[in-house]
Amino acid sequence: MCGIVGYIGQKEKKEIILDALKELEYRGYDSAGIAVISDGKLNHFKAVGKIKNLEEKASGFESKGSGIAIGHTRWATHGKPTELNAHPHLGAFSYVVHNGIIENYQELRKELIDKGIKFVSQTDTESIVHLFEQNLATGVEPFEAFKATINRLEGAYAVLLITQVAPDTIFFAKNGSPMLLARDDNDVYFASSDTAVVGRAKEAYYLEDGEYGFAKTNSVKLYSKDTPKEFVTKPLPEDKTLAQKDGFRFFMEKEIYEQSSVMNDTMLGRVLEDTIEFEELDKSLFDGIRAIKICACGTSYHAGLTGAYLLERMAKIPCQVEIASEFRYKEPLLTPDTLFITISQSGETADTLEALKMAKRAGLKSLTICNVDNSSIVRESDYAILTRAGIEKGVASTKAFATQVMVLWMLTIYLAQKRDTLDKESIDTELNAMRHTPKALIVARLLHERIYRLSKRYLHGHGFFFIGRDIFYPLALEGALKLKEISYLHAEGYPAGEMKHGPIALADAELFTIALMPKNMLYDKIKSNVEELIARDATILAISPDTFGMADDYIKIRHADHPMLEFFEMMLVTQILALEISIRLGNDVDMPRNLAKSVTVE
Ligand code: F6R
Repeated sequence: MCGIVGYIGQKEKKEIILDALKELEYRGYDSAGIAVISDGKLNHFKAVGKIKNLEEKASGFESKGSGIAIGHTRWATHGKPTELNAHPHLGAFSYVVHNGIIENYQELRKELIDKGIKFVSQTDTESIVHLFEQNLATGVEPFEAFKATINRLEGAYAVLLITQVAPDTIFFAKNGSPMLLARDDNDVYFASSDTAVVGRAKEAYYLEDGEYGFAKTNSVKLYSKDTPKEFVTKPLPEDKTLAQKDGFRFFMEKEIYEQSSVMNDTMLGRVLEDTIEFEELDKSLFDGIRAIKICACGTSYHAGLTGAYLLERMAKIPCQVEIASEFRYKEPLLTPDTLFITISQSGETADTLEALKMAKRAGLKSLTICNVDNSSIVRESDYAILTRAGIEKGVASTKAFATQVMVLWMLTIYLAQKRDTLDKESIDTELNAMRHTPKALIVARLLHERIYRLSKRYLHGHGFFFIGRDIFYPLALEGALKLKEISYLHAEGYPAGEMKHGPIALADAELFTIALMPKNMLYDKIKSNVEELIARDATILAISPDTFGMADDYIKIRHADHPMLEFFEMMLVTQILALEISIRLGNDVDMPRNLAKSVTVE
């Protein structure tokens, strides 16, 4: 997602801003830009694609001596990744960079256009700089004009603004999107994440929502709700890798904890008050479509299986899910009334890409659910819904899976509305549950501690069975995959009702069964299946909102009134369990043996 940086000081500003932007590359972006004021002169450079393109554009430019600079990596939300849409956005004599979404930008834009302002980009951000200059034109001081601007913004933002009217000052505000300010002697830095300033500054203050102010060399004024605020900086880590992990032991752990916030990005502009909207889809995409085929590999395949339950149940459309490597060679029957959906975190998985090409040759319309824009699968597909999970570094996929499932759930409701298969009350229930998902994904400290303590009992045995029913069956498959990937212990996911058709023969005290027992879906059925295993002395770890006294171990999740909320919280539990077991076994969690993040071979 977008990254934001700023600098005030004597050093070469271009170099500092470009270096800082490179440190934020991991967040994902598709264009970048910088703006500098030194010697009272404004300069700016923007480029689509990688930061090296921006470096080339700015290669002849130097900015020594005292001055200010801001920079940005943009991950397109409103408007395509073009130079015009890249930040910084320019007014007549001011620049702004922004991370987040201004929800009332259309209203602001209209108001400004009515006053004769010309917009050059499609972004929500450009309104900020024009609004600032309009406020300034009323004759107030620049900081008052900035404050009045921020007061009009609704939504999430981290904003840095510079203007020729105050060429030694950076104005800043934060609400809902991350930003810190760091200091080193007289120099001041701003950034979305501390990786961008580690090595340059020794301490930082992490801004809180609703805070704003202005900074000059050696002076920072911070306010909250019109009141000046003192702030205390914290020491920054000295090691860059540690900083990228935001203090977590592994990227996978960081990514598990990030799931709550990335889910907001996945839903942004899509889950509206009483409907689901996908700007990226053509209204006629589903015309003539009578069935869906989903094709994917590994974790993405598990997301697809979950989606199929939702699509058939709520959108009443037949939906088949296939493992891409199997699909390619089975001579599948493909009819043009089938929508072909691929799911891929990387967008580069060779089997999925080839399956997509086959479907296209057979004349099928295609849609991909993908995390990487401009990847091969996105480019090959007719339509793409980006999952917006941000770069995933841990080889074992976590947040990519969560966001894939969310997109499939949203797509189900989108389609249910089109096909008129759900009444208004049911749609409202689904949308409400979606809005609660980020909360269900917050990792409670006590939950993590409990899983950590329990994990020591699960380092041996002759195997793990993860069992569940309905959508909790693909979650069981995914839980087992996570565990085997990073612990190298044997684990299988199984439909709970199938255990008695064979695998129950394995049951004894050394067979560990992780039972997914949601209250909102077939609780009594799965309870009976678990009791069958208990009767054969299998060791049971039950995950449920309700205590289950017969289990050997029990992890309590929060009570929720929707199965998807239970799904996401149980997903957290299975991810953390795999993580803690793997750490205890001394494995490399982020780079498990034999695995690659992007599987570009067959
Ligand atoms: C497991 C995992 C893999 C991938 C699979 C497909 O944690 O990440 O199973 O899901 O290799 O990759 P993508 O989603 O990139 O197509």
